Amino acid sequence: MQNNPGRLCEILKIDYPIIQGGMAWVSTAELAAAVSNAGGLGIIGSGNMPPEILRSEIRKARELTKKPFGVNVILLNPDVDRLLEVILEENVSVVTMGAGDPASRIKFLKQGNNEIKVIPVVPTGALARRAERNGADAVIAEGTEAGGHIGDLSTMVLVPLVSSLVSIPVIAAGGIADGRGFVAALALGASGVQLGTRFIASEECTVHPNYKEAIIKARDRDTIVTGRSINLPCRVIRNEFTREYQKKEKEIILLEGEEFQNARLELEEYAIGRLRLAAKEGDMEQGSVMAGQSAALINDIKPVKQIINDIMEEAQKYFKKISHLGEAILEI
Ligand SMILES: Cc1cc2nc3c(=O)[nH]c(=O)nc-3n(C[C@H](O)[C@H](O)[C@H](O)COP(=O)(O)O)c2cc1C
Repeated sequence: MQNNPGRLCEILKIDYPIIQGGMAWVSTAELAAAVSNAGGLGIIGSGNMPPEILRSEIRKARELTKKPFGVNVILLNPDVDRLLEVILEENVSVVTMGAGDPASRIKFLKQGNNEIKVIPVVPTGALARRAERNGADAVIAEGTEAGGHIGDLSTMVLVPLVSSLVSIPVIAAGGIADGRGFVAALALGASGVQLGTRFIASEECTVHPNYKEAIIKARDRDTIVTGRSINLPCRVIRNEFTREYQKKEKEIILLEGEEFQNARLELEEYAIGRLRLAAKEGDMEQGSVMAGQSAALINDIKPVKQIINDIMEEAQKYFKKISHLGEAILEI
């Protein structure tokens, strides 16, 4: 299929092909509703929510917007099946799902509501194909530039690869924060974009103000990836927590067998609660300040509506510039 932003907007019933990525502890009903009200698709991040909290968050979002919004689930979450039941009971129209194999959960959701749109996050071409075969309505191809838990491939390689492998719409994520990124994503074969880090630095995001400031201050080499050695790579802004974590990682890679497994579990436990510490309490040294490389491109806190309008206006400007470039290339 040719990429088609208009078709993606039709499928999701939105005005602009801009999705706010689900973010545990960060994308609450307030942020999701603001993005949906501005014509994008807001997504509640359920990663930190017990099922009944998710239910009240969905109901809160419904009070704040009449537009469609979605919920993101983390497939590794032990509560995932109960969360999906709540999503069906509350008649949510879009579900995105990350960190795992989505196949059985797509089927479960579609059996419960054949109108529901299910969109897995995929870090590889193989998983994109599997998602399509099992009934996904679109896929989010998320490159390693993104904030939070990530895969290995860059957006630049993953988006064209996935676009050539599947015929459902592809949404590009990872490293996109402005109109240039939007235009580039479409040029690579995407029909829309998903942004996480850019929306954290918005007025409506309910994270602690220190978190937003950390994103604005971050420069190009300030995010690092922790957890590669234990197969849990996560992009965060470097601080005291990441320095200590990386020290522990260096010790772990020398271990083997049961000793390695125990040390791995200890390291996972060491990171528990750190995102909450950053997002809710504003601890920028001991918390896990998950953010993407795009933090380097973000210099201000804006209302969500302005973020979306600026991306669309810039995109129009860059598309014009590209048409000049096209003429220049033809002359070569
Ligand atoms: C703080 C933070 C938390 C995130 N939590 C989740 C999550 O719970 N589930 C998920 O699928 N993706 C999660 N992500 C990824 C985002 O949904 C989105 O795909 C990503 O931020 C896009 O890349 P960008 O940060 O470069 O815009 C998270 C990202 C951040 C920055």
